[in-house]
Parts: sequence; C-alpha cells; structure tokens
Amino acid sequence: MAVFSLFLLFTLVSQLTPCSCGVDTVWMNTTLSQHFSQPRHHVANPGYKQQTMTFIRDEFRALGLETHIHTFPTLLGNVTGVNVIGVLKGRHFNTPSDRIVGIGAHYDTMRNTPGVNDNGAAVVVMLQAARELSPHPVRNYTLFFVAFDFEEWESSSNIRVACGHISCGSKSLVKQWMENFWSVPLGWRGMFIMDTIMNFDNSRSSQHFPRVFEQVFRSQAQSINSDGGRGDFLMVAGRKQDKMLQQAFHAAWTNSGQPQFELESFTVPAMTAHFEAFLRSDHVAFWEVQMSAVFISDTADYRSYMSACYHQACDRMDKVTPSMLDFAAKTCRTLISVLDKMAPVVDATSASDGQRSSGILSVCLAILALVLCHFQTR
Ligand SMILES: *[C@@H]1O[C@H](CO)[C@@H](O)[C@H](O)[C@H]1NC(C)=O
Ligand SMILES: *[C@@H]1O[C@H](CO)[C@@H](O)[C@H](O)[C@H]1NC(C)=O
Ligand SMILES: *[C@@H]1O[C@H](CO)[C@@H](O)[C@H](O)[C@H]1NC(C)=O
Repeated sequence: MAVFSLFLLFTLVSQLTPCSCGVDTVWMNTTLSQHFSQPRHHVANPGYKQQTMTFIRDEFRALGLETHIHTFPTLLGNVTGVNVIGVLKGRHFNTPSDRIVGIGAHYDTMRNTPGVNDNGAAVVVMLQAARELSPHPVRNYTLFFVAFDFEEWESSSNIRVACGHISCGSKSLVKQWMENFWSVPLGWRGMFIMDTIMNFDNSRSSQHFPRVFEQVFRSQAQSINSDGGRGDFLMVAGRKQDKMLQQAFHAAWTNSGQPQFELESFTVPAMTAHFEAFLRSDHVAFWEVQMSAVFISDTADYRSYMSACYHQACDRMDKVTPSMLDFAAKTCRTLISVLDKMAPVVDATSASDGQRSSGILSVCLAILALVLCHFQTR
C-alpha cells in the first residue's frame, strides 16, 4: 500500500514539475562518444563517416520524420556527398501559407580531427531537439532538420574548406534539393545553423576575438572584456533581415534559466572578408540566396582549448566537461522552445486541458491513497 501511495505521489510530483523538455545530457554524451568521436572524413575515415550518416538517418526515421538522403556530386570525381534531411510536415506543407523553420548542422570533419565539438555536439543537439518536437506532429508549419555533408573538406595544412571553394553540402541542398522538393514558392521563416557550440570556459581570459570585434562590435567586445574575457557565452549572428530569428532565440535563451551561460548577438553588416569570423558555416548558403538563417557558435578557435584543437586531433571526448554538456543542453532547450513557438502544435489548448485533467486525477488518487494508507497504519 505504501509503495502504491509512493508511486501515486511520484506521478503527482512528475505532473507538477515544469517541463525539463527531456534534454538528456547523458544521452548526449553517450551519443557523442559512440557516433561523433572519430574523424568523419571521406578519405581519412569514410567507414566511420558512413556509419554516422546512417545513425542520423535512422534517428530521423525512428522519430517518424520523413527522411531523405540527398546525394550530390563533389568536385572529387570519385566522392559523393550525402546530406541527411528530416521533415516534419505541417498542415500547410507545400502551400503558400507554410512558414518553414529548421535546424541544421554539418556532420563531416576535417581529415585528422575527431570533431567532437566541431561539429558532433551540434548534430547531437539537433537530434535531441527533433526528438522533443516530433511527438507532437500536428502543426500548421513544417519543421526541417538537416545534417550537412561537406562543410569541411581537406587537411589542416590546406586552408580551403568545402563551402569556400569546392563542393558544399548546404549549397547543394539549397540549389538542388530544395528547389525540387517543394513545388510552390517557399514560405520560409528561417534556419538555425549550429557550428561548434559546446565549448564553455568561464575562466578569465579564455576568450579572444578577431580584430573586427573591437572595430565593429565594440559593445560586445566591451561586455566580454569587462567580464574578465571569459568564454562563457554563445554567439548568435545574423544579418538585419534575420533579426526576427535572432530576437526569438535571444528571448527563449533568457527564459531558459542557467544565467551563467550568456548570449551575445551580432548583426553582420556585409558578407565580406572583413567579417570572415561570421561566415564560417552553412548559413552562408542560405544568405547567398536571400533566405533567412542565423549562425550559432561558441566562436570555435577563439576560445580556450579550441585555439589549439580546432580542426586538430585534440578536439576529442576527453575535453568534454559536465558544464559543456549543460551549455549544449541550454542551446537545445532554447531551440525547442523557439521552434515550438514558431510552429505551434495545433489544438494546443485541448492538449493542455487533457494534461490538466490527468493532473487533477493524479492529485485525487494520491489523496485517496494517503487516506487509505493512514487508516491501514492505525
Ligand atoms: C579518390 O581519388 C583520389 C585520386 O585518385 C584518391 O587519392 C582518393 O583516395 C580517392 N578517394 C576515395 C574516397 O576513394
Ligand atoms: C562522457 O562519456 C565518456 C565516454 O563514455 C565518459 O568517459 C565521460 O566521463 C562522460 N563525460 C561526462 C561529462 O559525463
Ligand atoms: C492552423 O491553421 C488554421 C487554418 O488552416 C487556423 O485556423 C489555426 O488557428 C491554426 N492553428 C495554429 C496553432 O496556428
């Protein structure tokens, strides 16, 4: 009887606890170590890269997303690129009233790096967000998840990366796949692109930055310096036309607790070499065709151990600390909240009515059990 009451009390408490949104740092760490802790490069480690791609595809499928494998030719004759796409179609799918919103991150790495932070962590965060959003399939607007191939390309001695000069998964997606997948002009709200997002270091002087910060982004540079130059923030960068996405992210970040993890927003004035630090990922493919997207990053090689480990062998599992996982979890909760607001569940009111009445039922059952238990022990 006591066990039964305890069970009911537990049910009651779990009904009243606010949503932790299921972001599970243990799962994140395990998934990183199982699928994102070795090089994922088409020459250095094609087998592991293929396994990771298969894992992402199977996760999308298991969540019930419409899953697509987008293969594209690269400038290396014998190598095909593979983007993995998960679509949660809204009621307005393929009509002009859709307002598609998505998350993207590249899963490939440079030749000799395990790429745990660049960019395993971001893919894991995307998969967690997809997992939390997909059990509520009835939305008006379409959710879109993409794991990009060929964001990176060559060895560290070769500074060329795919999206700068050769084949690029995100550019192929935008120019080939998206054009064919939708037959109406896109109702596009935007894409949150993550690249290298997990490094958090709140020790003094762990953050440095390109000169452009001090020249153009004085207030952010001041805010970071006045705080002891700590790498304790996430960066979100967009153009003027991406302001709505940036503001939505900012608001959700502020509301998701853990204020030790800060956020700095940047409005990028131009896509020129001067602003190269803000142009280093797949959002550029969207910016080039005037589609809304923002870039989310921990600033990569401008922070603590990643100054030495960016694109190198030491971007590996043993650098991962509990606070780094918590930092990534906050990014994940923020994205879940943003997407859930931009593409709300239809009939949300009746769903929460249902939850409320089952909550009330648990309260009644728990009281009944306590009363019975009380009489039994007398
Ligand atoms: C593709 O061809 C190049 C040059 O012939 C070779 O060095 C490379 O290993 C090949 N890549 C794969 C993945 O087979
Ligand atoms: C993450 O997983 C690795 C490998 O399984 C383990 O050694 C490590 O202690 C875990 N790290 C954290 C912060 O939980
Ligand atoms: C979904 O779209 C319908 C019209 O098709 C509208 O009546 C309804 O309010 C929308 N619901 C949400 C949650 O946006």
